[in-house]
Amino acid sequence: MKTTDWFTSWFDTAYYHILYKHRNDEDAQFFMRNITSFLNLPESNHIADLPCGKGRHSVYLNSLGYKVTGGDLSKNSIDYAKQFENESLDFEVWDMRNPIQNKYDAIFNLFTSFGYFDDDNEDITILKSIKNGLKSNGVFVMDFLNVEKVKNSLVKQETKTIDGIEFQIEREIKDGFILKHISFIADNKQHSYTEQVKFLTLEKMQSYFEKAGLRIKHIFGDYSLNEFNTNTSDRLILVAK
Ligand SMILES: C[S@@+](CC[C@H](N)C(=O)[O-])C[C@H]1O[C@@H](n2cnc3c(N)ncnc32)[C@H](O)[C@@H]1O
Repeated sequence: MKTTDWFTSWFDTAYYHILYKHRNDEDAQFFMRNITSFLNLPESNHIADLPCGKGRHSVYLNSLGYKVTGGDLSKNSIDYAKQFENESLDFEVWDMRNPIQNKYDAIFNLFTSFGYFDDDNEDITILKSIKNGLKSNGVFVMDFLNVEKVKNSLVKQETKTIDGIEFQIEREIKDGFILKHISFIADNKQHSYTEQVKFLTLEKMQSYFEKAGLRIKHIFGDYSLNEFNTNTSDRLILVAK
């Protein structure tokens, strides 16, 4: 594995968590309540939250009664999340490109945690591995962005000052990826990172899922679980078996 991939370095920094500290946990919890009740998941279920970041969904799902395992490539995030562990909640450093060893009732991939890799086969390998990690009646939930809406409402330049750090952000769509260039000065150093998320339309996702042997059962466009609309939906949420 290359250790210089953007997602290995950027997500492991404190700066990533500073830039995204205002993300809406209420929305995340609202979504978790809606999706678990829509899927009718019994409390005895074991859910894998992959990747879990610092564990915000995992902790909440566990508070709803589920047994939860959160996994993430970022050691710093997992070290942080471990403070919340209990007998039905555990966290581990986990590279989703590796085969999944256990079988879960549900696997959740939340908040645009997919489409980072150049090679389509790598994306499909992850989906195959997720399929193999599901029990026979298990369910997979992917919460991705709606790339068409992102394209139509792209904010090309933006400055955000958070905790005294001025983040200069530039966005573009290039070579099949949505690129977010982030530069800032912190701790007396100039830093530059580029987030890179593949421009995965619903059609492309459908072909990925098919190749991985995952059958899509529901397609939602937001955390209230309204129907997906290519032009207006904020999210692309896929539920598959
Ligand atoms: C946008 S964040 C979302 C995290 C979490 N789901 C949340 O909502 O807070 C994406 C996460 O993917 C993780 N990640 C990136 N590549 C990964 C990989 N190959 N295996 C596991 N996790 C990975 C990053 O470390 C980061 O925490």
